Amino acid sequence: MRRSRAILTVLTAAAVTAGGFLTLTQAANAATTLGSAAAAKSRYFGTAVAAYKLTDSVYTGLLDTQFTMVTPENEMKWDATEPSQNTFSYTSADTIVARAKANGQRVRGHALAWHSQQPSWVASLSGTALRSAMVNHITNVATHYKGQLYAWDVVNEAFSDNGDGSRRSSNLQATGNDWIEVAFQTARAADPSAKLCYNDYNTDGVNAKSTAVYTMVKDFLARGVPIDCVGFQSHFNSASPLPSDYQANLQRFADLGVEVQITELDIAGSGTAQADSYSKVVAACLAVSKCTGISVWGIRDSDSWRASDTPLLFDASGNPKEAYNAVITAFGGTTTTSSPTTSSSPTTGTGACTATVANNSWTGGFVTTVTVKAGATAITSWKVALTLPTGSAVTSTWSATASGSSGALTFTNASYNGSLAAGASTSFGFQGTGTAFSGTPTCTVS
Ligand code: XIL
Repeated sequence: MRRSRAILTVLTAAAVTAGGFLTLTQAANAATTLGSAAAAKSRYFGTAVAAYKLTDSVYTGLLDTQFTMVTPENEMKWDATEPSQNTFSYTSADTIVARAKANGQRVRGHALAWHSQQPSWVASLSGTALRSAMVNHITNVATHYKGQLYAWDVVNEAFSDNGDGSRRSSNLQATGNDWIEVAFQTARAADPSAKLCYNDYNTDGVNAKSTAVYTMVKDFLARGVPIDCVGFQSHFNSASPLPSDYQANLQRFADLGVEVQITELDIAGSGTAQADSYSKVVAACLAVSKCTGISVWGIRDSDSWRASDTPLLFDASGNPKEAYNAVITAFGGTTTTSSPTTSSSPTTGTGACTATVANNSWTGGFVTTVTVKAGATAITSWKVALTLPTGSAVTSTWSATASGSSGALTFTNASYNGSLAAGASTSFGFQGTGTAFSGTPTCTVS
């Protein structure tokens, strides 16, 4: 019933428009954002968030509409939260947590104990002084966020890459081999409700490093050391590609009884190859019932710690990439695409623009993506007008400025996407409640 109504909506939208464009729409189920598509499969879809970007409306527009889980990218690390010994600083992390809560998003805490991004005062410590400092740090930070986090990466990157399954040598490791279990016990005592995870990279396939982690988790479970989950960072590039035994590796950890999470996903590349790898990651998580969710390590390519790899799901302007559609499709969500099927130029005149819409609709809501295309000559600004159906309202807009939230609306270009070469296009989007607009909007240049 629900499905047939969705298909009907889609067919209504698939009409030959006045400008001679055919809107092609592919029907699927109703989930239409990363978060809602994952939620339809009982998974979360998260992202790393940087506090200093929360004033960027393109960034927050995508964050608020697409993601259901948030990981502070740097703000909960030891150097950020305890810049001098026993003096704690939570302002940036608190901002991220409060904002996520207000938007109904959950938070993964990252990371309590790690060899990297330690404050400088830690370098002068060793032995029992360092062990006590670590315990004090974990107790304070986990207590500060007690009851507020979905999970903590308690220990990050504690194993070496040298192929013998050994521990990474670090100042923390030098305090004794039991530092990891002490970290987990301390975190559990401070916040019994957060899931406690071990998180690492190059552990995505079956290899000596992941097997060493596996052995540790198995031992912890056998001895009653508290551990609930294992995070797989999943930073992939040509030197470290998505392994073919990714799913099998996730499954062997799940079979121990812990949850598995994909915690920092990014995949260098572009186009279909990149999209295919993203699909495979989603499929692997869906095939493992204890895989509870996926987080990407940033929103737009330009937000990535490896920006030159263009490894994320949105381009620098915030437009969804092929990989974005692949992720939604892999979750079984709606992939609604609109594209001109004729090569004839728009007939609206020299210097003009045209606009076409693509809708992802579900019962009670929608995401509309509007493609704005310049006519025969370049333009430097554009304005798109459309009238929303009665009772519908826009709740957020990205890559354009909306004149209001209901009825007759105009959307004006953002500062970075008003200029289009002849025949070039850009897109903006908005999310709303009610029924989507499904006609052809008016596009004007000023
Ligand atoms: C990275 C951040 O993205 C950067 O902004 C920062 O400069 C360095 O750390 N593994 C992790 C993350 O667990 O914390 C790292 O994040 C990326 C690798």
